[in-house]
Amino acid sequence: MTTDKNIPVHVSIIMDGNGRWARERGQERVMGHIAGVKSVRACAEESVRQGVKYLSLFAFSEENWGRPQAEVDALMKLMMKSLSDEVGTLMDNGVRFVVLGNRKRLSETLDSAITQLEKMTEGNQAMTLIVFLSYSGKWDILQAARRMAEEIAADPGKVVSPEDFDSYLVTAGIPDPDLIIRTSGEQRISNYLLWQGAYSEFLFTDVLWPDFHEEQYRAALDEYAKRDRRYGKVK
Ligand code: IPE
Ligand code: IPE
Ligand code: MG
Repeated sequence: MTTDKNIPVHVSIIMDGNGRWARERGQERVMGHIAGVKSVRACAEESVRQGVKYLSLFAFSEENWGRPQAEVDALMKLMMKSLSDEVGTLMDNGVRFVVLGNRKRLSETLDSAITQLEKMTEGNQAMTLIVFLSYSGKWDILQAARRMAEEIAADPGKVVSPEDFDSYLVTAGIPDPDLIIRTSGEQRISNYLLWQGAYSEFLFTDVLWPDFHEEQYRAALDEYAKRDRRYGKVK
């Protein structure tokens, strides 16, 4: 069992390997994405049980828009379906739902369905589930820099600290991830939380996302509990 004292506040997951999972079974890639929804539910419910306050999931990157249109459409359709399928589970578990990313690129139908679910779950306090959609770390830093530059132009003497910069990122108000998990054996950040992950612990596992369930998630939390975070200091 995981000990209470070392439970991360914010766990983030780069959910990778859906396509390979499907290919191993001789199925279309989309079947891997569909199977991956179960893993989302498993990790979200386990997070609530373990007392993780923020679970964030990298669901679709800005670069993923460059995939074949049929796959992009299938992913957006799956997102739309999951929103309505999971309302009950989110409400029953007291989970607040938030989507972060370049929302302008989403269809109006999807964007308004997301906004509706965000409003409905706004008061839920057990946990916050963040889905990064049409997100990339460089995009986030750029949009933050642009907004900050506008304010500095109006007030040239303004001094900006890293904490001030945090407030321009789409993750404003959300603590930086303590643990970033990536499934499927790839060991890279793929333009994810470049600024926010400055001191995150990383955990790479060969397990493909559709096979990552409660047991694998608990094992990741156990591994995190053993890490010694020093933040550049001497202990
Ligand atoms: C992750 O699985 C889901 C998304 C990036 C949308 P992939 O679709 O990247 O699966 P692999 O990496 O090709 O196996
Ligand atoms: C990262 O996975 C993005 C998401 C999980 C949403 P990719 O499959 O897109 O990343 P690369 O191409 O292997 O770096
Ligand atoms: Mg991939």
